[in-house]
Amino acid sequence: MTRSPRLGVNIDHVATIRNARGGAHPDPVRAALMAADAGADGITAHLREDRRHIGDADIARLMDELTLPLNLEMAATDEMLSIALRHRPHAACLVPEKREERTTEGGLDAAGGHNHLARYVRELSDADIRVSLFIEPDPAQIEAAVSLGAPVVELHTGRYVELVFDGDVRGAGAELDRLRSAAALGGKRGLEIHAGHGLTFDTVGPVAMIPQVMELNIGHFLVGEAIFTGLTDSITRMKEAIELARAEGARMGAPA
Ligand code: PXP
Repeated sequence: MTRSPRLGVNIDHVATIRNARGGAHPDPVRAALMAADAGADGITAHLREDRRHIGDADIARLMDELTLPLNLEMAATDEMLSIALRHRPHAACLVPEKREERTTEGGLDAAGGHNHLARYVRELSDADIRVSLFIEPDPAQIEAAVSLGAPVVELHTGRYVELVFDGDVRGAGAELDRLRSAAALGGKRGLEIHAGHGLTFDTVGPVAMIPQVMELNIGHFLVGEAIFTGLTDSITRMKEAIELARAEGARMGAPA
């Protein structure tokens, strides 16, 4: 059977709730440790320029206390680069960042921003930090990631999820096809393929079925669902949904 994608649990929004009141509760590091016990394969945290959720001290504590690999999402800025080089997380995912956005809207322009990104990919890789680029499922972005020497791309699933929730079945199907083609092209070009953004129990299946997808990073929905059923339950159910979908994809002979 094709191996199931790893689940990276993004804990940013535990920090969002904490920061709504200041203080220390709820603690995103405690959530990360719980996520590990619940079967998460990694923890993802986005240190944004404006520190609206995760803060510098959270990253330091995650590096000290976590036994799972940490995937640090970061903008390609000198400040973030020096933080990443100081802590040396397992992985860094370069994301576009605009102050006014509510979440990461759209992928990096790896093609257009080639010269700017090259130094970040090189310096992080030289420090043995596995670099991924958060991109739209677009062949030009895949080729740009290859030429930048990034070993991993994370495909932005936000548009697919939005189309599903808008009830646009054709649009969602077309976006899923874009995700499948980008994953197949990236796989052929030697990239490791990750995916994420906005995924829920109802939308994760078709993405988890894509045979090249090795890791899914999911946060907002898991933390939201935890309000109703607890974090352990939301993570366990997401892992099950991913595993079931991958097994089903393999049974249906999803082309590798
Ligand atoms: N992957 C990347 C690169 C992201 O920026 C985010 C959001 O921080 C996620 C995955 C997780 O998205 P969500 O919180 O919507 O599940």
